[in-house]
Amino acid sequence: MTDLVLTSLEDGVLTIALNRPDKKNAITDAMYASMADALCEGAVDPDVRVVLLRAEGESFSAGNDIGDFAMIAMSGRPAEEMAVFRVLKALAHFEKPVVASVKGVAVGIGTTALLHCDLVYMAEDARLSAPFVNLALVPEAASSILLPARIGHVRAYEMFALGRAVDGVTAAAWGLANAALPAEVVDQAATDAAKALAARPAGALAATKRLMRDGAAIWAHMQVESRVFGERLMSAEAREAFTAFAERRAPDFSKV
Ligand code: COA
Repeated sequence: MTDLVLTSLEDGVLTIALNRPDKKNAITDAMYASMADALCEGAVDPDVRVVLLRAEGESFSAGNDIGDFAMIAMSGRPAEEMAVFRVLKALAHFEKPVVASVKGVAVGIGTTALLHCDLVYMAEDARLSAPFVNLALVPEAASSILLPARIGHVRAYEMFALGRAVDGVTAAAWGLANAALPAEVVDQAATDAAKALAARPAGALAATKRLMRDGAAIWAHMQVESRVFGERLMSAEAREAFTAFAERRAPDFSKV
């Protein structure tokens, strides 16, 4: 079976690449588990100086696999057991620099994970969205505080509640990315930046990141969000949203 998450280490840069392009790199529980393993190992491996997040194919990620959401909702399994929470915990506490290369769509966690990256390079025509309410869910990955802090309440609310998608040029103007570039040069720009960081003193980089963000507070907020998210996952509204996605129709929330 093809590896759905690819990892490689070169010149101090650990690349973690989503590799499910036929499903727009929608992320399954097993993929989160691989990502979490890579992040946790990278955090303590002295040969890893920087992490680069990217994706194979035309899309960064269509977000959490909606089939997985539906399965968890039906199983009654606590949402906290989803491997995504290991990824979030690792990202919250990650002290080494994280660089992202984003092309195509970045939905849900495909967008909110970027709030934990230190440098973000984006295709001009990338499409960022966080349509949690459309799925009857709530924001995760501490995005309910990090996104409004970054772009302002009304823009963040519009993305969460109305599912507004934002292109790469707008994302860069709003401070969600360092640069919006032609799609064909985005990976190279991100790789160059990651290599430049790998040549910087690792101790100073880690100390700078610790001063700039409070990992413990971010993780605490992620846990608050995850309790609400877990409740929402089990709701009749969410069941309707997941069923509608599977049936390729618009959801009808008027009866739930
Ligand atoms: N979970 C599971 N499968 C997904 C998926 C997801 N989040 N996103 C896309 N896919 C699958 C589609 O079902 C389709 O599978 P198929 O070829 O077997 O039918 C394939 O990926 C391609 O997607 P498609 O919808 O045909 O591509 P598109 O270019 O028309 O639209 C998106 C792309 C991302 C806009 C659209 O797929 C979408 O809205 N996906 C859901 C995103 C989402 O809500 N994620 C959760 C956020 S919390």
